[in-house]
Amino acid sequence: MNAEMLLALRDPAGVPSHPLVFLLLGVLTFALHIAAVQVMLGAGTLVLSGAFRADVRWRRLAAAMLATSKIAVSVAIVIGVAPLLFVQVVYDPFWYTSNVLSAWWVIGFIVILIAGYSAMYGFYWLNEDLRARPARGGWLMVASLALLLLVGWIMHVLSYQMLWPEQWREWYAPGGTVDASGRTLHAYSVARFAFFIALAAPVTGAWLVAVRRYLIGAQEADAGYLALLQRLSQQLLLGGGAVAVVAGAAWMAMLPEKMAWFLGSAPMVLAAAMLVLTVLLPSALGRRLDQGGWGYAVFGVGAVALIVVAAAREWLRYVTLLGAHGYDAMTYRVNFDAYSTVTFFATFAIVGGVVLGWLLTVAWQAGQTRGTYTPSPAVARLGRWSVALIALWIVHYFAIGAWVMVR
Ligand code: HEM
Repeated sequence: MNAEMLLALRDPAGVPSHPLVFLLLGVLTFALHIAAVQVMLGAGTLVLSGAFRADVRWRRLAAAMLATSKIAVSVAIVIGVAPLLFVQVVYDPFWYTSNVLSAWWVIGFIVILIAGYSAMYGFYWLNEDLRARPARGGWLMVASLALLLLVGWIMHVLSYQMLWPEQWREWYAPGGTVDASGRTLHAYSVARFAFFIALAAPVTGAWLVAVRRYLIGAQEADAGYLALLQRLSQQLLLGGGAVAVVAGAAWMAMLPEKMAWFLGSAPMVLAAAMLVLTVLLPSALGRRLDQGGWGYAVFGVGAVALIVVAAAREWLRYVTLLGAHGYDAMTYRVNFDAYSTVTFFATFAIVGGVVLGWLLTVAWQAGQTRGTYTPSPAVARLGRWSVALIALWIVHYFAIGAWVMVR
């Protein structure tokens, strides 16, 4: 597959903003997606390790982690759509080919995801009060995590197959005979997948540091529970961080020839340094973790580290497709559309900012309040603004659609 053929597969309509905008948004939203995936997997694994114990504190943790994992699945799904949109805009020749070559799995992805999420709810419905008694139906939670991992594996394969245009013809017609079933997952890197999954441990460790700080702010009375959170978070950060480093090193050691330049490159080194900084930060902060915003800073630094990892991953893809296949994502034809660009950023910043700001403020303050929580007039006003903005957005959505149809 030469560069001319790859370029011919691009959308002749071009893209509505500079390709760099899509690449940057792709990096940012992939980092958010993978953070949610990692919290979901880490919290889900803690459910399995705590829910069946006699120790009430472990079961309290399992109950909290089950709620966290349930929400994280929906966040991972919702935020997963964003990198999906961006990757198919600037890398459409690669992404669509990869999808069509494994179409059976792309469609199966939805069914497997629904089954995985439902199994988690099944476990939740069986065990609504984990604090009162040890869990039943553990197989549901095991099945849920296995199915969600399979979903991630499909995503990994789709992302990886797109990097191998020289193999596409052989995959489509092995030995010259067309196989249009789409049933085969053709290319993967176990070490690369293991790296992103192993990061779930330190990311969940950083999450637990923040949970502990939050509970201290809410005057948590059970010192034993806080001690459990501290011990676990350290183990996950240091032990899990070490496992992730080993997986990352294995990925780098097994890079195929056309990607070998990435090993030791500045983005790779920076990503590794940020991950090491994140896992060592709590040990460096010591008792300060319980004061001010330090307990939350660890997850903040971890989020920045994930953005750097996402940027390094994008750099690997961009340079590989440019260097080995002559495809420069930055030269995509721009057909600038100010309206859609402004709508996107205004929705993201104004509607998203106000509504999310309101929801998070209410959830945060309610959790820090003893007894009944009554929002302040300012928070109540923010709530009214949120509802009004969403209503305005919906009216705008139908109005623009109607205008396009009748004009
Ligand atoms: C819930 C289980 C999920 C897991 C465990 C998971 C895990 C992953 C992992 C590990 C990657 C990185 C693959 C790699 O670079 O090798 C990835 C990429 C990706 N995921 Fe997910 N994912 C899940 C769900 C979803 C969903 C529901 C969507 C979309 C609605 C989605 C969209 C994406 C996209 C678009 C990428 C690739 C982005 C790119 O190449 O720029 N994921 N996912």
